Amino acid sequence: ALGALEVHWELDSTSSELQRRGAAAGDFSVVLAETQSAGRGRRGREWLSPPGLNLYMSCLKRFDAGFAALSGLSLAVGVIVLRALERLDIAGAGLKWPNDVLAAAGGKLCGILVELSGEYQGPCAAIIGIGLNLRLTAALRAQAGQPACDLASLAGGVPPDRNRVAAALIAALVDGLRQFEHDGFAAFRADYARYDLLHGQPLQLSGALGAFGGIGAGVDAQGALQVRMADGSVRRIDSADVTVRRS
Ligand code: BTN
Repeated sequence: ALGALEVHWELDSTSSELQRRGAAAGDFSVVLAETQSAGRGRRGREWLSPPGLNLYMSCLKRFDAGFAALSGLSLAVGVIVLRALERLDIAGAGLKWPNDVLAAAGGKLCGILVELSGEYQGPCAAIIGIGLNLRLTAALRAQAGQPACDLASLAGGVPPDRNRVAAALIAALVDGLRQFEHDGFAAFRADYARYDLLHGQPLQLSGALGAFGGIGAGVDAQGALQVRMADGSVRRIDSADVTVRRS
């Protein structure tokens, strides 16, 4: 059953709103807010969400196969965002593994937060939160805590119409999530490679595996990062913090 498409003035978080809906969200729902009072980023960080400028959207999608089958979903969502931008004729963006959408010239354009609930091999739901910068003020840039960019900068200084961006994103999510449900990340791997900003770049990685360097060598069919080591071997990384080394 189709759930809702709702636009709110203010919510604590569009993702929290969908969590509270539970079964009422149906199999597919989309919630947008003009502003969020408690926007959430990854790793418990806050996502600044002032009104009027940017896009804050969450989408709930149910999957029958359980989240065992959802590896690569967050990477696929990055590809879906870039497909939407492409339909809007906005070029100059790419992906930094696992799912940051960056301007090719640097700066984060869009944050993606995927939260899963339900069963490992049974009915489950993904709540996909997308925060997309259309136009950043100097104050917002200063507060962001990391280099940020906006669609206005990619489109010659004029921010694209927000409703058109929202419609393109929703259309791309409907198509893309259906495709993911049938074919998994394999259906996104070729597009991911087109948008991969880390390919061939010198990378510094850190995480549970320790700290090491290597060269970005794409992603595998499950969405794991492949890193070419100095001895020529390729290491497969499921989770790590990645930065591009500037020399
Ligand atoms: C990140 O840390 O990069 C992910 C940021 C995700 C922000 C979006 S805005 C819409 C949705 N609601 C939230 O509270 N967070 C996500």
